[in-house]
Amino acid sequence: MRLGGPDVSPTSRIGGISADLADAVLAWGVPRLRALPWRRTRDPWQVLVSEVMLQQTQVDRVIPKWLAFLDAYPTPAECATASLGDVLRLWHGLGYPRRARNLQAAAAACVERHDGRIPSDLAELLALPGIGPYTARAVRVFAYELDDAVVDTNIARVYARLAGERLTARHVQANADASAVVGEGWAWNQVLMDLGAQLCRPRNPACGECPLAGACAWSQAGHPDPDPAAGSAGVSTRQAPFEGSDRQARGRLMAALNLGPVSDDRLPEITACPAPRAQRLAASLVADGLIVAANGRYRLP
Ligand code: ADE
Repeated sequence: MRLGGPDVSPTSRIGGISADLADAVLAWGVPRLRALPWRRTRDPWQVLVSEVMLQQTQVDRVIPKWLAFLDAYPTPAECATASLGDVLRLWHGLGYPRRARNLQAAAAACVERHDGRIPSDLAELLALPGIGPYTARAVRVFAYELDDAVVDTNIARVYARLAGERLTARHVQANADASAVVGEGWAWNQVLMDLGAQLCRPRNPACGECPLAGACAWSQAGHPDPDPAAGSAGVSTRQAPFEGSDRQARGRLMAALNLGPVSDDRLPEITACPAPRAQRLAASLVADGLIVAANGRYRLP
């Protein structure tokens, strides 16, 4: 049996994975799964924290931060009642601090609406601040062991290449739903995630090692240009250069504030930007609720 209902069968879509092949991929992939700490837990809060951290940060950098964060906040309630400044200090080094603010807001919503528990219902998860379709399904699959198909950037790349064409968001989700192995949602999605990250890489894919290569339109066609994953829904584009970016300058200011308040006149030196740009960046962090301005100084909330 497959997911997705009667209109979504593996044969009615281009680029799904047949049941037999999916079984073979599982048998190939389960013994090869990377031993990552969040794969040893089914605690929904621990899983949610890992998924939010992993969205834009590499596995190696997430591991120590995930451990320290959960040490400080073992439950949503403990995170919800902390100061945002403390949450941001623990987040420091992961980048994209809006994620920390949203995660704390999601924890607070779970305390208010769900008695401090992370829900398993898709609509309830999607109603939490900052939780999108990927994260909601990841919690359902990796914590509650439900049979949804998650589509992150690595898995979206796999399905686009299998189909040999750019896919819409609906098409890639339909292919993922049609391919998932019922009763094996946890293992299936973890295997596909590792396969996408380690073999079906953005550049230099290791098709020679990939159990899907024989069914992969792009691989079978000899990797014609353009790569169908480029511009396909859910596949992240290459990041803009960090050097000289607003993100870099905002990161410098957050790093300074992590150590203590900063007076207004030090903004150019800290951000390495001319005063008008430094002021604009500080104002954007204030507007995002990530820093507070008072009495000519900035500080964490
Ligand atoms: N990225 C997002 N979720 C992940 C997971 N469970 N394992 C490895 N990388 C991930």
